[in-house]
Amino acid sequence: MAQHTLWESRRAFVLASIGSAIGLGNVWRFPYICYKFGGGAFLFAYVIALVLIGIPLLALEFAIGYKLKGSAPYSLGKLRYNLVGYEENEERMQRKGKFEWIGWFALLVSFGIVTYYAVIMGWATNYLVYSFKLSWGSDPRSFFYQHVLELSDGIFNFGRIQWPIVLGLAVSWIWIVLSIWKGAKTVGKVVYVTVVLPWLLLLVFVIRGLTLPGAMDGVKYYLTPRFEFLLNPALWHAAISQVFFSLSVGFGIMIAYASFLPPGSDVLNNAFLVAFSDAATAYVGGFAVFSALGYYARILGTTVDKVMKSGPELAFVTYPTIINHLPLAPLFGVLFFLMLLTLAVDSAFSMVEGSAAALIDKFHFPRKKANIGIAVVAFVIGILYTTGAGLYWLDLVDHFMNNFGLFVVALLESLVIAYVYGAENLRNYANSVSELKVGRWWSLSITALVPAASFVLLIYSFRQVLLKPYGGYPRVAEILGGWLLVIGFLVIAFVLSRRKSKEA
Ligand code: PHE
Repeated sequence: MAQHTLWESRRAFVLASIGSAIGLGNVWRFPYICYKFGGGAFLFAYVIALVLIGIPLLALEFAIGYKLKGSAPYSLGKLRYNLVGYEENEERMQRKGKFEWIGWFALLVSFGIVTYYAVIMGWATNYLVYSFKLSWGSDPRSFFYQHVLELSDGIFNFGRIQWPIVLGLAVSWIWIVLSIWKGAKTVGKVVYVTVVLPWLLLLVFVIRGLTLPGAMDGVKYYLTPRFEFLLNPALWHAAISQVFFSLSVGFGIMIAYASFLPPGSDVLNNAFLVAFSDAATAYVGGFAVFSALGYYARILGTTVDKVMKSGPELAFVTYPTIINHLPLAPLFGVLFFLMLLTLAVDSAFSMVEGSAAALIDKFHFPRKKANIGIAVVAFVIGILYTTGAGLYWLDLVDHFMNNFGLFVVALLESLVIAYVYGAENLRNYANSVSELKVGRWWSLSITALVPAASFVLLIYSFRQVLLKPYGGYPRVAEILGGWLLVIGFLVIAFVLSRRKSKEA
């Protein structure tokens, strides 16, 4: 395996993992889903999913990466031979692992995500500039859909490429690549800014939001539990997939990040720390968003339950409208989009870093070449999302990556640990290197709960799209942007795992 640079301190690792976890997922996906599924009831389900499923999986990824010291494919490929008693067997160690492809698949899914995640950063880059003059004017909705996106009337009607977004996308990619230029060494420095700054800005928006007229209507909506929602399987599906997405687990990233830890580090404490910071950010972010929604409802002369449409709407229509009504409007605009960008960038570069680490491990790609190569390919693919049909494709790919890619990875990872490596073996290992210990409940979660939940969700998602095409898009689009992508990734993952690794 190629030598990766290691984190310079525990803090660097924790911040980088928190940076990956905290992203657009916390400030728009979380509030939006929470809004859709009955506020407080969703919070309740979210916490349960976090503790019983999310944290065990995060601890699993940290433990694997730390133990096997490599990117996801490398670590998972090696795993088989670490069954009790195999460690000493040189000859077996030489043979290729059977589970390497799971790691590649996880990374391909995160690659699929970063292709559009960077486009959202591209929008935000444009909006950062628009903020100075409040260019969205008095009708932010038409501005966003008709001017910025030039959204067409159908998924196959591509319209034109929006060059300002392409430019924003390019800027975002340059920023991403520079942030991981020398691997953990650079990341460890960048995250001091990209984790701390958005947090401070988030606090500004919480305070600003809560002091607006009508704020309490929003907060009430956020926190009032409508427990009848708990009976809806869709809520549990949303809670679990939100936990995965938000913690960045099931993408192979946390495995790579933990592999850059120097010997003598802790695993479990860090997992809890990262998970709780992420959840706390989502929770606090909820106050910023819902208080603002309360105000927004007041501006529109309606009630909170009628105002939220989707994540992108929230950031690019709702917030600009609210900002228009604030004193010092341009300042708040700039701060808001700066917050989004700094939240997003460390999530985006973690997705690249996870894959770059794998290319370095297996093919001994020079790091910079790996970074630039991934960025260029993702940038070119990203151009699709800058067309008039871009938002539709973004939505479709997002749905498939999160509902099929992610659950498949979570299912396989937990099964491999549970039934090949032994959950108890990994638990003992993790406990032996950590201050904080986890009890048997952890193994129980990995052997039963995580695989069962992932499997059920997979079937559930499958059934949903069979019954009705996702988002009402034509089936052909769904096949192209959904199924072909997932199956293609599986095939590529197999092919990559069968390639001989290059010797140094
Ligand atoms: N966790 C990030 C967020 O909440 C998104 C992400 C997903 C990052 C997958 C890395 C991998 O926005």
